[in-house]
Amino acid sequence: MLKILLLNGPNLGRLGKREPAVYGTVTLADVERAVCRRARVFGAKVVAFQSDVEGKLVSKIGSSEGKYDGIIFNPGAYTHTSIALRDALQSVSIPCVEVHLSNTAAREEFRHISRTAAACLGQIMGFGVLGYELALIALVDYLSPRCKKERQKR
Ligand code: DQA
Repeated sequence: MLKILLLNGPNLGRLGKREPAVYGTVTLADVERAVCRRARVFGAKVVAFQSDVEGKLVSKIGSSEGKYDGIIFNPGAYTHTSIALRDALQSVSIPCVEVHLSNTAAREEFRHISRTAAACLGQIMGFGVLGYELALIALVDYLSPRCKKERQKR
């Protein structure tokens, strides 16, 4: 059974109350439920973790080797600043998909840069809670035997 770590960074615990015009009214519990529900369809298991603290996210990623097959990660504002999180992602051999609820490319310029994206398989942004589910689909496909075989051929 695939084990996926669903990781959310600072202020994402306040979803639902936080800037609803930007992030909508879904709560983090709604996000986690939606991802868990879809994971069941794939026979995958999701463990969710949220922290406002950069170091806790770094430690969580660092201790994930051997425990998780994939990571879905919304690093929140740390996306734009955190070399520590990028290094943490690069220090493990677990594929990660970066997710943003909003389309950061269409927002303030400081949100256009992601320090973490280069350490990820790819980014999904602008689709709200659906983005997390799309990230799960991408990870499950990436981890599938078919996809693994394709990579070995290259
Ligand atoms: C966010 C986008 C970031 O720029 C912002 O700091 C967040 C949320 C998103 O999901 O759209 O906290 O990651």
